[in-house]
Amino acid sequence: MENQKKSVLSCIQPTGAMHLGNYFGAVKNWVDLQKDYQCIYGIVDYHAMTMPYDIKKLRTRVWDLITDLVATGVEPENLFIQSLIPEHAELCWIFNCFCSYGNLTRMTQFKDKSNDSQAKSKDNFISAGLLDYPVLQSADILIYKADFVPVGKDQDQHLELTRNIAQRFNTTVGKEYFVLPKSLHSDTPKIKSTADPSRKMSKSAGEKHFINVFAEEARIRKQVRSAVTDTGDTKAGTMSEGVENIFQLIQACENRPTEYAELMKDYENGELKYSDLKDVLAEALVELTNGFKLKRAELNENKRELKYKIKQSSEAIRKVAQETVKEVKDLVGLMNVKF
Ligand code: AMP
Ligand code: TRP
Repeated sequence: MENQKKSVLSCIQPTGAMHLGNYFGAVKNWVDLQKDYQCIYGIVDYHAMTMPYDIKKLRTRVWDLITDLVATGVEPENLFIQSLIPEHAELCWIFNCFCSYGNLTRMTQFKDKSNDSQAKSKDNFISAGLLDYPVLQSADILIYKADFVPVGKDQDQHLELTRNIAQRFNTTVGKEYFVLPKSLHSDTPKIKSTADPSRKMSKSAGEKHFINVFAEEARIRKQVRSAVTDTGDTKAGTMSEGVENIFQLIQACENRPTEYAELMKDYENGELKYSDLKDVLAEALVELTNGFKLKRAELNENKRELKYKIKQSSEAIRKVAQETVKEVKDLVGLMNVKF
């Protein structure tokens, strides 16, 4: 029954084009979870402000990401835009008072991103929002009382902080009000850059280090053709990182199981031809992404309809957030409108 399903919450920052690492590492998992869980997924534009960003591009990026997510299989009614639900920011403030300052300064992501932020801004600027980022993330999660949070392993520290805040809150108000959420990791290992398989596929490394899910067919084929397979420094008897990455990508596409098994047999017998391996990957990716591209073109034909749906879903999801914030304000001694 619908109301007995466990709940899942996850969010993604609107930071530009979706690549195969994002898709196989996060989005595909979101799509699959919709079958068995009550899912809520957010586009976190408040979070996107914590680093230097382009004001003119932010809104377009939000809508582009929503279109991409829906094209790859996320249900529009499960999606919300964070800044349409200001209760996230309100709960974040309350949680600030249940979170120790020292804990925030110890977050790995803060340490990494503050260096990056300093480098990107002209005046060595690091915002207080960047320090507070994980508290807003805790509000995103706890406001919907989520049981599970699908995220990459790099987010485990933030999940731990979320549980700390929930626990401190529960102890302070003397009630087991918040459930303690757990992270959920997908089986797909990190997807590597095909141009340099020693590093993960990522936008920040530059054009050739990621394959865009919505790239033209010809570009996908070209990027696969030029994938690095073996640089010659692999230990005898072990698979090179490049070849392993291609095998993983074929497997992740889930549409070439027979070819995958045959290629693996060839590898084990020492008869693998890299050109065959790449051909199968190119076909698998083209088939998978052509479906997404068709769906995205359809959605782009009727942008207004999609925007309307997302505004509706954000409003419906906001009701849950409002209820939580009302209860929280009661519990911590703040004023509610009705008194
Ligand atoms: P980012 O674009 O780095 O903010 O990542 C958004 C989501 O995609 C996060 O959940 C990441 O864990 C996931 N992700 C990004 N790059 C990769 C990759 N190369 N392999 C697997 N997952 C990834
Ligand atoms: N910090 C997450 C990331 O960088 C994004 C995020 C914000 C998030 N709020 C969240 C993820 C709540 C899960 C739940 O990927």
